[in-house]
Amino acid sequence: MTSLAFDVYGTLIDTAGVTGRLKEIVGERASEFSSHWRSKQLEYTWRYGLMRQYRDFRTCTRQALDWTCDALGFQIKEQDRLDLMQAYLELPPFHDVIDGLNQLRSMDVAMYAFSNGVPEDLDRLLDRAGLKPLLDGIVSFDELKNFKPDPSLYHNFAKRSGDDIKACCLVSSNGFDVCGAVSAGMRAFWLQRDPSIQFDHWEFQPTWTVSGFEHIIGILEKSV
Ligand code: LAC
Repeated sequence: MTSLAFDVYGTLIDTAGVTGRLKEIVGERASEFSSHWRSKQLEYTWRYGLMRQYRDFRTCTRQALDWTCDALGFQIKEQDRLDLMQAYLELPPFHDVIDGLNQLRSMDVAMYAFSNGVPEDLDRLLDRAGLKPLLDGIVSFDELKNFKPDPSLYHNFAKRSGDDIKACCLVSSNGFDVCGAVSAGMRAFWLQRDPSIQFDHWEFQPTWTVSGFEHIIGILEKSV
């Protein structure tokens, strides 16, 4: 059987979904704020990972929020910061995800959420987004106290799914995640949701590049 590992933030779940709440707090700079917040959050995971000083994804998210407030010059009160953290637990799925996962369920594949997120946060987020019943489980990097793209985590996914790593396949919109998976021996779909985003000029290239969930099933039908 093929085991599919779906990245969560940015792939199943739209981190820009926090923009609505942000607009009420920072006005027209909401989208700029959201994108700085997300970039800093990822940067913190890489830095803590390299420093071997694990702090969970929730902590990285909160510290990145505080940094973004400072960097963009917003003095946001604590209650609004807590509300934004709450909004992060209630982010929406991308529009094509529910149909896409439903189609994939007709195939002989196992499907897991595979994320840096804190297990309770992922459980709540995916449940609220209506994705939990469509998945066979959640594999969180928090178990190993490290972050993507550490290779041990992709190997742990294979172990957890009971498949050889070559039979596992990542689906992610995050290029660094795709490079990490391919480097560790997995196949990977790069979900290029935004055509203006370019892939890295590295030797670790996606096995397949697709513009939406609906294109995954056709490719898998030919290659599983
Ligand atoms: C995740 C981050 C990388 O869900 O988006 O793991």
